[in-house]
Amino acid sequence: MRGITALGVLFLVAMVGALENGLARTPPMGWLAWQRYRCNTDCVNDPDNCISEQLFMKTADLMVSEGYLALGYDVVSMDDCWPARERDADGKLQPDAERFPSGLKKLGDYIHSKGLKFGIYEDYGTHTCAGYPGILEHMELDAQTFAEWGVDYVKLDGCYSDPHTMDQGYPEFGSYLNKTGRPIVYSCSWPDYLRASGIKINWTAIIEHCNLWRNYNDISDSWGSVTSIVNYYGDNQDEIAPNAGPGHWNDPDMLLIGNFGLSYEQSRAQMALWAVLASPLLMSVDLQSITPPYKEILQNKDIIAVNQDPLGIQGRRVSKKGNIEIWTRPVTPTSGDEYSYAVVVFNQGNGGGPSNVTLSLKSLGMTHSAGYLVSDLYEHEDIGKFTPDQHFYVKVNPSGVKMLRFNLS
Ligand code: GAL
Repeated sequence: MRGITALGVLFLVAMVGALENGLARTPPMGWLAWQRYRCNTDCVNDPDNCISEQLFMKTADLMVSEGYLALGYDVVSMDDCWPARERDADGKLQPDAERFPSGLKKLGDYIHSKGLKFGIYEDYGTHTCAGYPGILEHMELDAQTFAEWGVDYVKLDGCYSDPHTMDQGYPEFGSYLNKTGRPIVYSCSWPDYLRASGIKINWTAIIEHCNLWRNYNDISDSWGSVTSIVNYYGDNQDEIAPNAGPGHWNDPDMLLIGNFGLSYEQSRAQMALWAVLASPLLMSVDLQSITPPYKEILQNKDIIAVNQDPLGIQGRRVSKKGNIEIWTRPVTPTSGDEYSYAVVVFNQGNGGGPSNVTLSLKSLGMTHSAGYLVSDLYEHEDIGKFTPDQHFYVKVNPSGVKMLRFNLS
């Protein structure tokens, strides 16, 4: 008996060590402060845009009143620059007292009262990237503090640390999160820091310990930034794409839609590509001033449904000829070993008018002899039934996309 009990305990310990926390069965959706609000701490001169409890409360209100929560965007997350410069007398993290006078437990309560989840940012090293206290040497206490505050989602960055220690450190912090007993989504920057330092990435460990992870450079508010990320995911898809699945996702970084750097076409392209990449959909925009066309992109139900497809298979770039790329993602409904597909035809060209593109269903891997029912997810149009031997013609605007769904008929 004793032996069995000891074995049972060992098994339990092993279970707690692994992340499998049952969370993020589909890519997380929500709002993350960084891209739009950065480290603006000047609440005296810029009260509406500084990192403060006001900003997160206002955003929580708008997530509900403007319909984002109803569509699945359910996390409101802080990024860098929320902490005070020093820990408190007990060594606990504390928020900046002037910008977060009510404290983070209260802020978490407010966010929860709206039916939303509360996200926080910290850093595995001695400091956050912007120089605020990091969690190194306080990991267990910080995990407990986050749980006390009602945190549901932690983004853990990796500045000011030795990347060689991350294979041990990221899982360690994850185990403290698990130990709190509170379900907390764990977003890691671990593989991005290993990649940038030329250290081999142990994907099995990343998948086991993180719900999502950054692979590549920070996004900034420009089309060049979006295409560099998309190209990275396409060029490295054999290594990256198979690691995504329910509970564990690649994170190409925030959506820029509604800010300053992307045109309307480019915004539609980012949304479509993030959907086929099974990427987290983390808006980073002023939800008060976003204009209707951009809001409509973020709220496109059919594209969100592709992103949130229950199979959780990340899409791939299946063809690249000149400026024209075709990305496909296997989605439901399925029949035997045949899938339906989301298809993005992406024109990276930046001159002239729309390009004419011919898609051959068979060469895209669509072999279902009864055919596919095709719809255009931006035009909200059913286009009809196509069989594998048929061709399909589309026009794609420069730096734009066509987004189609081919459902098994
Ligand atoms: C970067 C991170 C960004 C943002 C920033 C905050 O390392 O990739 O997403 O969190 O730090 O300082």
